[in-house]
Parts: sequence; structure tokens; C-alpha cells
Amino acid sequence: MTENPLAEGLALRRTPDPCALVIFGASGDLTHKKIMPALYALAVRRLLPPQFAIVGVARTGDTDDDSFRKDMETAVKQHARDPFRQETWDELAPMLHYISTDFADAGGEDKLHDLLAELDEKEQLGGNRVFYLAVPPPAFPTIVEALGKRRDSAGWTRLVVEKPFGHDLESAKQLTATLLEYFREDEIFRIDHYLGKETVQNMLALRFANGIFEPIWNRQFVDHVQITVAESIGIEARAGYYEHAGAIRDIFQNHLLQLLALTAMEPPIDFTSDSVHNEKVKVLRALHTPGPKSVVRGQYGRGFVEGEEVAAYREEAGVAADSMTETYVSAKLYVDNWRWADTPFYVRMGKRLARHETTIAIQFKAAPHPPFEETASEGLRPNVLVVHVQPDEGVSLAIGAKVPGQGMTIRTVHMDFLYGGAFRTGMPEAYERLILDTMLGDSTLFTRADEVEEQWLLVDSIVAAWQRDQPAFPNYPAGSWGPPSADELLQRDGRAWRRH
Ligand SMILES: NC(=O)c1ccc[n+]([C@@H]2O[C@H](COP(=O)([O-])OP(=O)(O)OC[C@H]3O[C@@H](n4cnc5c(N)ncnc54)[C@H](OP(=O)(O)O)[C@@H]3O)[C@@H](O)[C@H]2O)c1
Repeated sequence: MTENPLAEGLALRRTPDPCALVIFGASGDLTHKKIMPALYALAVRRLLPPQFAIVGVARTGDTDDDSFRKDMETAVKQHARDPFRQETWDELAPMLHYISTDFADAGGEDKLHDLLAELDEKEQLGGNRVFYLAVPPPAFPTIVEALGKRRDSAGWTRLVVEKPFGHDLESAKQLTATLLEYFREDEIFRIDHYLGKETVQNMLALRFANGIFEPIWNRQFVDHVQITVAESIGIEARAGYYEHAGAIRDIFQNHLLQLLALTAMEPPIDFTSDSVHNEKVKVLRALHTPGPKSVVRGQYGRGFVEGEEVAAYREEAGVAADSMTETYVSAKLYVDNWRWADTPFYVRMGKRLARHETTIAIQFKAAPHPPFEETASEGLRPNVLVVHVQPDEGVSLAIGAKVPGQGMTIRTVHMDFLYGGAFRTGMPEAYERLILDTMLGDSTLFTRADEVEEQWLLVDSIVAAWQRDQPAFPNYPAGSWGPPSADELLQRDGRAWRRH
């Protein structure tokens, strides 16, 4: 790392206080694929506190510390971004403990409290705790109440809540009320893992660390914005969840609206969590759709993705044969403020689309008077600044350039900044940053209650309008870019989705 001057000083972040990290849902998918590999990556980089304990909790009966350690070792070998290093694992493994208990039972939390008290004493953890709720949402209230009623440790406590945060505005408010009965808002860390992605944070660096973009980042210079969260995968084994969520709750309500808020927000006065949340929530309050015709939903039928024939959504295991769950949403949104009035934000997200990609594209207005002959600039498109969130993380700017030769012919070319190329280092996983920030008590990259509520308010209004008419599903083939009505949404405005 130190060979690259751009990477100098990267290892100088603050180390968190000693603490115990308690993972509820330790036998689950998220713990195996994301949380444990992230902890391992932090261990490799020596970013974990020197005195540290990880306590896995699940109801599964027959697992002890040793089998939990073995299980987590396998998870790290399968899913970590770093090659497995035995010496790092040998340091980390003794910090892992496992408890099998059900918090729904009276006294179900006793075992955990006893173990934490023992670890406090033995490892000098100072009573500091992070409780990570990696369990299905219906289990949140029971665990929160049991933890809240026994807040007896001397140190700080932080509670990490996985998505989805509620199913609609009402349930989100209810969940926040339950959390606030026992925890302060600054102790609650609502995960939207997109905010932990480097390229999403780079949107803030791009906008606010450079003098050249902000003066043109507004309705006078920007024609429109396009945000795409496209997945080529289907719902995999998650039908039970997805049938009730659909694309609007799975992606639009959280990740997509957060990307939009970061793109449209005013510069915060500093980078403290309240300053950033205050600016984001103003955007979310100002956000609206001009009407039901501005929101398109779709569901995939059979098709071909990356050369392979794939089943229709209604043919996936666990999905109803007449399911009306949407796997695609696109919308035209407006942010009603001085900076963005009348500037459309076109957003789209879906499963089984042609490619896996997340991008934010700022499409600038065309040059007002190109002095060239029309034929010279036929191949010229207006400037577009694209933030590639994933994959191929980076930023590219489309500009007009003269084609070498005698005549004056102009074409669009791309200036590309590739993250991996510039910094010559692998991209950290979002969960590494988010877990570290939780231990450091920094909630800037998490969502605050009022943001979540504004997001649900918009989603609830869209879902209510959907009750009035039912489209014919399926309406787009797997492997395409969505239903024809999504193209019409932009065609009506004389625009088109970016093709790649
Ligand atoms: N997997 C992902 O990639 C992903 C991504 C984003 C968000 N999330 C969120 O993360 C959470 C966990 O997801 P997951 O995919 O890991 O689920 P999962 O594979 O079904 O695992 C759920 C875990 O929770 C435990 N659990 C289930 N019901 C419980 C209850 N009533 N009380 C206490 N523990 C219970 C399970 O163990 P026992 O049954 O043994 O108790 C298991 O360890 C969910 O909120 C999900 O929406 C997951």
C-alpha cells in the first residue's frame, strides 16, 4: 500500500474502544457472507480494538464455541476478500463465542448477560457493546425489549438494525417507537449498506472536495439525472421475503432514494452525522412524483441472461403462479427546491436485467451554440458525468473531442477514472466500513428515523396508486432493460435511458 503515494496514511484511522460485538442471527446468511468476512478484513488491517469479543447468538440448539469458530472459519475462507491467513485467524478465533438461546423465552437473555459480564471482566471490555440485529424483522422487537430492559453495563451501547426497516410508514414509525423506548436515536444504527460503498461516499468527495462541479450542479446546467440499480440475478432463494417486498421496498425505498439524496443534497456545513442527515432529509421531503403515470412497474418473464435461459419470476420456487409482485420499477421524480425545480430525476431498478450495474449519471445540457457544421457533430452527445457505483468502480466524463484528421469532425469520448487503477488497492466491502463506524460511534453513513419515514411516505403514496390498476405481468423478458412503458416514460419527455 505504501508504494502508492495516493494511499499514504490510509492506515491511520482511529481504533475503536474495547467492546463486545453481539451478532443476533449468527447462523444466518448475512453473518456468513458479509458480517464475518468484514470482521476478518478488519482483523487483517488491524482495525479491530485490541480487546474485543464477538458473540454469536441464534436459537439453533447444538452449537458451541468450537463449532461456531469452525463454521466462521469456513465462511471466511469462502467469502472474505483477502486470502486466508492462518496467523490472523489464530488471533481472531479465540475472540469468538456462541450462545444458543431464544429471547422470546422468559430469561432467554440471561445466558448472554452472564457471558458478557464474564468477558467484561476477563477481556477488560469496559461494558461497551454493539448489538447487531441480523435476524428477520419480526424478531426485532422481542430482542430489543429484552436488551433494553437489562441495560446494566457501565460502557456505551449501540444497536445495529438491518434492513428492511418497516414495511410501510406506519410499521417503520412503530419500530422506531419501540427502539426509542430503550435506546437513544444516536445509539441506533439503521443499515443501508449502499452508504458503506466507497463509490457512494465518493459522490460526496466528488461534489464537495472539487470546486468545479458544484457551480454547475443545478437546474441551469443539468438537463436531467438518471440513477440505475440493475441486477442480472433473479430472487435466488428469497421468494418468501421478495413476494412481500417487491422492487419498491427492496431497493427503491432505501438504496435508490439514498443515492438520489446524496446526489441532490446541499453541501453540509461539516461531515458530522447530523449535518449530513439534515441535508439528506430536506431532499427527501422535497421529493415527489408528478403522478401515477410517472411510475412504471414490471415483472420479468422467461428470457436469457448472460447466454443462459432463465425462468420467469412466476416460475421461481416459492412464488405464486399469479403473483403481482413487481421485480422492476422506474420513475420520474422531482426535487422541489431552488436547485432542482423542473429537473427530472429518472430512476430505475430491477432484477433479471441485462447487466449488473449501479450508476448515477448527471446529464448536462447541450452546448448552447456549437459553431460547427451539423454533420461535423452528428456523433456528439451532451456531456454526461457518470459515477459507477458497481461494478468497474470509478467516474467517467463524456466530452466532445475532435477526431484526428483534416476536417472538423467531433465525437463523444470518455475520460475515465478507475478506482482500482488510481489507488492500486482493493475496494473494501461496505460492511467493513459500517461495522467499524458503529464501533466508533459514527452514524454518518446510516439512516436517521426521519429519513426512513420520508422514504416510506413516498413509497406508500406510490403503492396506494398501484391498487387502482393492475398491469399485465410479466411485461419484460429476463435479460432485457425492462418493460416498454419504461422507455415511453422518457420518450414522452424527448429523452432516452442511457444504453451501455
Ligand atoms: N442475507 C443478506 O444478504 C441480507 C442483505 C441485506 C439485509 N439482510 C437482512 O439481514 C437479516 C438477516 O438476514 P439473513 O439473510 O441472514 O437471514 P437468514 O439466513 O434467514 O438468517 C436469520 C438468522 O436469524 C435467526 N433467527 C430467525 N428467527 C429468529 C427469531 N425469531 N429470533 C431470533 N433469531 C432468529 C436465525 O437462526 P435461528 O433460527 O437458529 O434462531 C438465523 O441465524 C434480515 O433482516 C435481512 O433482511 C440480509
